[in-house]
Amino acid sequence: MATIRIDGGNPLFGEVTISGSKNGTLPLLAASLLIEGESVIENVPRIDDINSMIDMLRALGAKCEFIEHSVLSIDATHITSVSAPYDLVRKMRGSFYVAGALLGRFGEAEVPLPGGCVIGSRPVDFHLSGFRALGAVVEERHGVMQARAEKLTGSHMYMDSRYRSVGATVNVMLAAVLAEGVTVIENASREPEVICCQQFLQQAGADIRGTGTDIIVIRGVNKLHGCRFRSIPDRMEAGTFLLACGAARGDVTVRAVEPRHMGVVLNLLQRAGLRVESGADFVRAISDTRPHAFEVTTAPYPGFPTDLQPNAGVLGAVAVGTTVLQEAIFEGRFNYIDELKRMGANIQLKDSVAIIRGVPKLYGAPVEASDIRAGSALVLGGLAADGYTEVSGAEFLARGYEDLVGKLQKLGAAITSTQTAEDDKARNAWHR
Ligand code: UD1
Repeated sequence: MATIRIDGGNPLFGEVTISGSKNGTLPLLAASLLIEGESVIENVPRIDDINSMIDMLRALGAKCEFIEHSVLSIDATHITSVSAPYDLVRKMRGSFYVAGALLGRFGEAEVPLPGGCVIGSRPVDFHLSGFRALGAVVEERHGVMQARAEKLTGSHMYMDSRYRSVGATVNVMLAAVLAEGVTVIENASREPEVICCQQFLQQAGADIRGTGTDIIVIRGVNKLHGCRFRSIPDRMEAGTFLLACGAARGDVTVRAVEPRHMGVVLNLLQRAGLRVESGADFVRAISDTRPHAFEVTTAPYPGFPTDLQPNAGVLGAVAVGTTVLQEAIFEGRFNYIDELKRMGANIQLKDSVAIIRGVPKLYGAPVEASDIRAGSALVLGGLAADGYTEVSGAEFLARGYEDLVGKLQKLGAAITSTQTAEDDKARNAWHR
């Protein structure tokens, strides 16, 4: 088990370059399965979830190779299987995206159902209803989804009204790109990651309109061709560093970002009393006093992202006053709270609402990460705390953050990882 050790209490100063988006790039890798020819994707983050998706594409017969540090070439011309291995779906839910792509290109997909995970139950019923609406026969047998269609036909569908689902929107878009006729998805997700996937497919010859709104219109085309495309910056990674600056104090600039994807996060930082400046591709946050308490509820884009709720919780934990955090998307997103309380945070949890009474200081403690974002919240707690913090379960962080420890060290944090640069090199060597 990897461990991160932090000698906390130091402010963060300097600049950090943000990597490509995990949630934006995973759909691109799946989408490349629709393409006969070479797809070259730039700004691919070097993280474990991307490595798992590469393993998945290789298991299906695609050729994948990093031709530069963050430039990935994928050739899916000769796919040899439409059956996704259980082990890879189990490792990472995002790999369920191959279902839409395989069904769209081959009229057939066998993908194990991803099941729940620590942040919540995470069903895929909206994905399956979307495939059925396109004319596929979808069955669930022994934990495996089997979808088949002689021919997929465009259809007008209304995604379930309880949630806007990023995953279902992307998966149905992937399945519909090569279908016959027009597909309309109402109540679609408006996330920048969905737009990123649409732009990649468009570049490859697809005809998709309306992403960024809640009605997406897809006119089926016969074939997609290879292309070169740059993935979007990771707004969650950028938000993590800015919230870290708020919790630990300092003056941090995140570079290579899209500030327009981060409006609600920048607004929260300002409400918490940070000074925030932004330009075309950077955001600077300055924090020299304790933050102010705030109220926030997570929501689909452009609302406050559930993925940054745990980091916002750490800001609230050291703020002056009482912060109210409401989690409206995943019931398990408060997993970090008991661990943060071990560091001296004063938090009461009532159903989906956390009432956080800010304390002047957290103190270091041994804590355990249960998922990617809980892990980053505990790292932020450790940075803000006096004394030593040891975050075990730090392998979760490598799933979603490229070189988090190295980037924080450059900002002056006293932080080390038992996962060495050599380990990282060895891990990535496989994925060349
Ligand atoms: C994606 C992100 C995740 C982020 C989440 C919400 C990736 C790889 N992961 O996850 O980091 O936290 O969006 O922004 O991009 N739901 C159903 N049935 C379905 C699908 C979803 O009930 O078939 C529910 C979920 O349980 C959840 C809500 O809809 O409560 C939103 O989930 P969704 O947007 O689908 O999340 P993911 O795509 O899994």
